[in-house]
Amino acid sequence: MTTAGPAALTSEQIGTLARAVGRAPSVHNSRPWQLLVRGTEVDLLERRSVVPRRQDPFGRDRMMSCGAALTNLELAVRVLGRDCHVAFRDGEDAVATATIGRPRAASARDFDLYEAIGRRRSHRHEFDHGRVPAAVHAALVAAGEATGVHLVVPAHLDRFAQLLGFATRVLREDRGYQRELAKWIAHVTGPPATGDGVPEDTLSPEAPPVAGLVPADTPVPGDDVLAGRLAAENLLVVCTDGDTRAEQLAAGMALQRVWLTATAKALAGSVITQPLHLTGFRARLVSELVLPGVPQAIFRFGCAEVPVAPSPRMPLDEPFFE
Ligand SMILES: Cc1cc2nc3c(=O)[nH]c(=O)nc-3n(C[C@H](O)[C@H](O)[C@H](O)COP(=O)(O)O)c2cc1C
Repeated sequence: MTTAGPAALTSEQIGTLARAVGRAPSVHNSRPWQLLVRGTEVDLLERRSVVPRRQDPFGRDRMMSCGAALTNLELAVRVLGRDCHVAFRDGEDAVATATIGRPRAASARDFDLYEAIGRRRSHRHEFDHGRVPAAVHAALVAAGEATGVHLVVPAHLDRFAQLLGFATRVLREDRGYQRELAKWIAHVTGPPATGDGVPEDTLSPEAPPVAGLVPADTPVPGDDVLAGRLAAENLLVVCTDGDTRAEQLAAGMALQRVWLTATAKALAGSVITQPLHLTGFRARLVSELVLPGVPQAIFRFGCAEVPVAPSPRMPLDEPFFE
């Protein structure tokens, strides 16, 4: 006697997956992915045509964005009451496959993180400066820990401040970076407004330069002031053992789990990667902060002083079917 395999998803359920994936954070809000549904397997394809070359010269942010989308996909499958197994694929376009298994009740934690998907947003403003309780901090770190991924509280903030100040000055003067950033901001304001890109009012001039993207008028305080501001922040550096595409994907998955955990605990957060693409910055960050691996992203979090509106999204790409 043969037993039937897991049932395929309905089109309504596939819509649920696509909406969850569509709310994931991504480099410049570019959503560099596409879903391909093959029965009970859903491939996450990387859209390599998305190239913010100055922000993301090596495609690391694109892979991490795909990782963040994959976390949302996995949570949505679980909340639909199905088992889910996610595997990295080093294919031409497919970066991962989510295999949808048999019925299985989602955990309370899956529900909490899934519900946080719609409330998570990039909060690039200053936080209400105060330490996050140790237990909450530990929960965030635990949420992101995965094989080969490490969440590190940065030490040596004086050196960190020097490096960030330097990187910010470089990016402020980099005409190519500025042109590209202006273009992605213009995607939102148009004309024509394409629905991707970063709204200008979400970039905060009053926060430390560590807090977001770097328009040409970003103020750079002195190293001491910046070190003081960093000391008042809650920061985690997402590091991986190496720098393979699988590790970048894992870093993105971990980052999103940490971000959703923070959101579920009524905290806000934002992510910074742009200085990490300056080769000298990355190498010096590893040596000066004595990091245990390759820094992929810096996550800052805390209590929001002001609410932030959700950023727009392009109209949903319909998943492909095979
Ligand atoms: C891999 C990755 C890298 C990012 N890098 C930066 C960054 O360097 N600076 C920044 O301000 N935001 C960064 N972001 C945040 C995105 O700009 C943000 O997710 C996107 O604009 C959508 O907005 P939302 O997070 O509010 O939904 C990054 C996000 C991801 C996933």
